Amino acid sequence: TRVAVLMGGWSPEREVSLVSGKACAEGLREGGHEVVEYDVKRDLRALVDFLRPAAGGGPDVVFNALHGRYGEDGCIQGVLEIMRVPYTHSGVLASAIAMDKPLARHIFASLGLRVAEGRVIERRTLAAGDPMPRPYVVKPIDQGSSIGVHIVRDGDNLAAVEAAEAAFGERVLIEKFVPGRELTVAVMGDKPIAVTELRPRTRFYDYEAKYTDGITEHLVPAPVPEDVYETAKQWALAAYQELGCSGLSRADFRWDDSKPGTSGLVILELNTQPGMTPLSLAPEQAKWAGISWSQLMTWMVEHARH
Ligand code: DAL
Ligand code: MG
Repeated sequence: TRVAVLMGGWSPEREVSLVSGKACAEGLREGGHEVVEYDVKRDLRALVDFLRPAAGGGPDVVFNALHGRYGEDGCIQGVLEIMRVPYTHSGVLASAIAMDKPLARHIFASLGLRVAEGRVIERRTLAAGDPMPRPYVVKPIDQGSSIGVHIVRDGDNLAAVEAAEAAFGERVLIEKFVPGRELTVAVMGDKPIAVTELRPRTRFYDYEAKYTDGITEHLVPAPVPEDVYETAKQWALAAYQELGCSGLSRADFRWDDSKPGTSGLVILELNTQPGMTPLSLAPEQAKWAGISWSQLMTWMVEHARH
């Protein structure tokens, strides 16, 4: 099969996507696929010509290695649907819902999965004072890689205003900060793979901690009690199925380990285009499960949406 790897784009996660895309292209070549890399620019006509050249031909499958706005939110998926080009990962609706954190939270809650206490507010109201007791988290509604995420802690007077300035969009999501541990679960088809615990040396698992080698310790399988481990896997799968995801995805969690049993577990979000960089978590879990990089790539192409 001829596989086109779409990467780059123009979201704030462009650089991450370029790293993901190169790594995926490499793995696909290793798996014997004919690969074309395509850096997506804001030029729909060029993309359409690339996918369906006037002279005929074009790729058999698109491997979507984009992250963030337009690449992960259902937009590019819609273009590929209209053009009838099979593509990896989730479709239009699942992508759009997962990218919108407030909407995804409603759906998770409707399934009985615990979410952090939170709500959407107008960004400018942050300057007027704390919208909830500290510590709380200010998040853009629809960005990835922790870009624009800000934790407002006790005793930091400027924090809320800084958070408002760093945020994207007129509306922001505020959530009660869940102390404790950071967990993540990749789901491959209908199988949650494992639970990884992230232990960043920085203040939290932010952009720097995600993409700088040596800053964050990754523990697979996560050293947490079995009920927490199994519940995180179940919730990741339930979220994946309810949103109607396909291919590979990854759900992120916080776990307040000072609370009994699984009562401190909270689902933060589901990523329909999980990072595929050498430091990323879904491929690391696959590797732990005995699935090599090129096997994972081939599986993803075989599970492309038609
Ligand atoms: N948004 C980044 C790529 C992730 O979820 O891994
Ligand atoms: Mg994300």
